[in-house]
Amino acid sequence: MFQEYAEVIGHNSIASKTHLIRLRCPKIAPLIRPGQFVMIKLPGSNDPLLGRPFALYDTIDDDRGTPFGIEVVYLEVGKMTTRLPLVASGQSVEVWGPLGQPFPIFDSNRHVVFIAGGIGQTPFLSFGKQLLGQKAYGGDSCKKWLDKITMIYGVRSASFLAGVDHFKNTGMELHCATDDGSTGFHGRVTELLQKLPPGDHWYGCGPEPMLHALCKIANEKNAPCHVSLESPMACGLGICFSCVVKVKTESGWDYKRICVDGPVFNSNALVVD
Ligand SMILES: Cc1cc2nc3c(=O)[nH]c(=O)nc-3n(C[C@H](O)[C@H](O)[C@H](O)COP(=O)(O)OP(=O)(O)OC[C@H]3O[C@@H](n4cnc5c(N)ncnc54)[C@H](O)[C@@H]3O)c2cc1C
Ligand code: FES
Repeated sequence: MFQEYAEVIGHNSIASKTHLIRLRCPKIAPLIRPGQFVMIKLPGSNDPLLGRPFALYDTIDDDRGTPFGIEVVYLEVGKMTTRLPLVASGQSVEVWGPLGQPFPIFDSNRHVVFIAGGIGQTPFLSFGKQLLGQKAYGGDSCKKWLDKITMIYGVRSASFLAGVDHFKNTGMELHCATDDGSTGFHGRVTELLQKLPPGDHWYGCGPEPMLHALCKIANEKNAPCHVSLESPMACGLGICFSCVVKVKTESGWDYKRICVDGPVFNSNALVVD
């Protein structure tokens, strides 16, 4: 893991309350893999005191294809994310990572389905490019792992859909859903999931209630499924135990730390109440 003062080399709004920030971090960028995350802290401020976790959206490569930066897409929700839009290009933020475990890849899969709720879309751009053999991460070489990705992407309302063209440009089959019916399917991503061909493996990321619903469906249908959990974190390094989740064990259940053991977990390993 590296800590860098990362220069902001681009920062713009891409949807309602949603921004894409581009950071120059030449130590972290060549190492980070889809599913992993970084902690970001505001420059010159101890308010908030702690950094906040953000998934890799994509890496930024130089002319020779060497990653020298990362892109992060974030939604304004609280103290840090409502102040981050004020950090302009040329300023720096504190970044440390890569953190957590990347998405697992299974050789036998030919068609996978991504289920994204709200800002939970962020880990799926780089993962899609990796699986489709369009880009390599973490020093690996490019490999086409499968033929087809279906992405189901749900938001509150059409104005919150972020980066739709980024996903479409990879060749993924994109299905959008909105809670208010303003565009796409009117309803929840988990309802839409059950109307589409199931594929070989599901990967989900989004708010806790959505992931609970997804895990329950996956476990009932015996569908292979991994979910990336986006719970609040204090240290991101495995020290504080503020990020625990209940997982099944032979004798009952135990806690795992999302920041080091996750954020990606097998749906059938989680205790879903
Ligand atoms: C591994 C991981 C990857 C993530 N990737 C992204 C990403 O790519 N883009 C993005 O926008 N966000 C992402 N998040 C969520 C992001 O970390 C939170 O939105 C952020 O910490 C909020 O900070 P804040 O200071 O703005 O809000 P705070 O002031 O800390 O909190 C504001 C409100 O939001 C709630 N809250 C805080 N964090 C979360 C959370 N994780 N889930 C639900 N409620 C929360 C608080 O309880 C409070 O009610 C990720 C989280 C994790 C764990
Ligand atoms: S955030 Fe501190 S242990 Fe996970």
